[in-house]
Amino acid sequence: MERALLARTGSMGERVAMYNANALKIGVFGANCSSGRSATTVPERWSASWPDCLRLARMADAAGIDFMLPIGRWKGYGGETDFHGTTLETVTWAAGLLAATERLTVFGTVHAPLFHPVIAAKAFVTADHIGQGRFGLNIVAGWNEGEFEMFGVKQRDHEARYQFAQEWIDAVKRAWSEPHEFDFDGEFLKLRRVRAHPKPYGNTRPIIMNAGSSGTGQAFALRNCDAFFTATAASRTSLEGAARKVAEVKGEALKLGRDIEVYTVGQVVCRPTQQEAADYYRHAVIDNADWGAIDGMLALKNITPQTVPAEEFAAKRRYFAANAIGGYPFVGTPDRIAGELANISAAGLRGIAVSFVNYLEELPYFCAEVLPRLARLGLREKD
Ligand SMILES: Cc1cc2nc3c(=O)[nH]c(=O)nc-3n(C[C@H](O)[C@H](O)[C@H](O)COP(=O)(O)O)c2cc1C
Repeated sequence: MERALLARTGSMGERVAMYNANALKIGVFGANCSSGRSATTVPERWSASWPDCLRLARMADAAGIDFMLPIGRWKGYGGETDFHGTTLETVTWAAGLLAATERLTVFGTVHAPLFHPVIAAKAFVTADHIGQGRFGLNIVAGWNEGEFEMFGVKQRDHEARYQFAQEWIDAVKRAWSEPHEFDFDGEFLKLRRVRAHPKPYGNTRPIIMNAGSSGTGQAFALRNCDAFFTATAASRTSLEGAARKVAEVKGEALKLGRDIEVYTVGQVVCRPTQQEAADYYRHAVIDNADWGAIDGMLALKNITPQTVPAEEFAAKRRYFAANAIGGYPFVGTPDRIAGELANISAAGLRGIAVSFVNYLEELPYFCAEVLPRLARLGLREKD
């Protein structure tokens, strides 16, 4: 084993580097939700059961995968499979996986308006101690009205959502860092005589990420986060587009005196031949798509046969199934996929969170074939 594990000391840099020197970080995305990132009816679709998640995390940990990123989802999207109808809550999921692994960073994905910040800060610290400094936080402002309704929480307008999220993360960070009792006097949050011990592991704090796509969401990430996830089409379809996005985000962060890493997401179908990969991708993602679930997701974005012309609706539906839910599709042989991942690294992206139709069945081949190729290209440590 040539991988040099960075010591888990109190350095924010080592946290952000996920305690390793891999230039291109690779994570597993969406495994806490039924069907993961593929709205498909194929019988091998992902269960998201705890035993499967646990096996997956141990497998990923042993293979040198850098992180696991769950989706904060509270309600299924309907359709034949009720896509995302079964989900494991992400902070408790992360705590369990951190206890069972040694190297992985595991994120919790938290809707700020749904979690009291003092309870949240303590839950994160608890997970962080369980993982000895390997807990990460994905902060979500929220966008899905129907999810908020079931908590009796009113969704704020877009700007106010991020103003609230700002106070929320400020309160969480103070609970993580204030050595003494403190008051917090915000517009939304009024907290008196807060005491929060212990502090996060190793006198530092969990790595924080956000994936807002609006200007306001991106500005929030620049001010507060270590990692920004982008899934915009430009960052996925062309190298130049990706490089431009990375330069823009890093440049804006620099103006605030901050350094931020940029990540993206993608769906992987890796097979020994291009034909096999393309056939399976079409079979799972297009021919056996759960169109009812896809229509449910589009309807949340106000895209329905009633709101857009028939031809445009059909095109959007197909695009959404093929490119949007799981992110950019990486479909092909190990050589091709390693090459495409090397391209995103060359564009300046620090990493990618990937999904598979069935994570447990497909991750071993990806790790055995693609990771060594990336190591030979100098993008990952050798295992
Ligand atoms: C990688 C990634 C992960 C995300 N995870 C979640 C999630 O788990 N739950 C959620 O409600 N929204 C999630 N989102 C949505 C974003 O947090 C954000 O709300 C969305 O991109 C809209 O951007 P805006 O809030 O700036 O308008 C995710 C987006 C991306 C690209």
